[in-house]
Amino acid sequence: MKTLPLDLDRDRLPQHVAFIMDGNGRWAKQRGLPRMAGHRQGTRILKDLVRCCQDWGIPALTVYAFSTENWQRPLKEVSFLMKLFERVLHKELAEMHQEGVCLNFLGDLSPLPETLQGAIHQACETTQHNQAVKFNVAVNYGSRHELVRSCQSLAQQVQQGQLAPEDINEALLQQQLYTAGDRDPDLLIRTSGEQRLSNYLLWQLAYTELYFTDCLWPDFDRTAFHQALLSFQQRDRRFGKLPTVMSA
Ligand code: FPP
Repeated sequence: MKTLPLDLDRDRLPQHVAFIMDGNGRWAKQRGLPRMAGHRQGTRILKDLVRCCQDWGIPALTVYAFSTENWQRPLKEVSFLMKLFERVLHKELAEMHQEGVCLNFLGDLSPLPETLQGAIHQACETTQHNQAVKFNVAVNYGSRHELVRSCQSLAQQVQQGQLAPEDINEALLQQQLYTAGDRDPDLLIRTSGEQRLSNYLLWQLAYTELYFTDCLWPDFDRTAFHQALLSFQQRDRRFGKLPTVMSA
């Protein structure tokens, strides 16, 4: 499925898809494998999905790789994930750059291991002008923290006399978010049967179509993505207006 499946309408594809990659641990457990095996397979799936977005003409994706709450996992798993992120960046950077992927990270990166911060910095700098697909990775990301941080930044501008409180509006707040300049996701996909947002992109998902599937992340291949896109194309996105048939 390198080209867009025939039953998908190229003109109605989401322009930005957000993913909550859930179920790596359960996938491994079902196979009697350590949790880390699930994260490894999840990484392979992610790599192909980035390529799939390119192949099918979806220009942006954002994935939740590590939340502010994930630090509460056993140290062994946290260390494994940090090393995995770093290894993937080193291993895949050249290829992603060549394929025109523009990498960006969302979240407070300061508590991450310094070598990982270095790899992230290098990856973002190298790929910043690429235009084929925008790939956002949320790491140590929490949406409430993002909103608090954005309010603090606006409050500081008010305190310094650069901004009047009555001039604060949605566009200004949006500019303070990690996703400043990005279009909001059109579609959110969460795998593994859980049906919640888990402090992910709360502002950005205001009008996003939600798709929940029982499929575990390490099994979420192109066929599963195709199903999600078919479901998306059946939705009537109204943004608070009347259904299209009624407003005609
Ligand atoms: C959730 O499944 C998954 C994570 C917290 C980690 C996701 C990370 C990857 C897929 C690797 C991505 C790599 C890069 C470079 C961005 P879970 O562990 O919560 O699964 P469970 O709910 O079944 O236990």
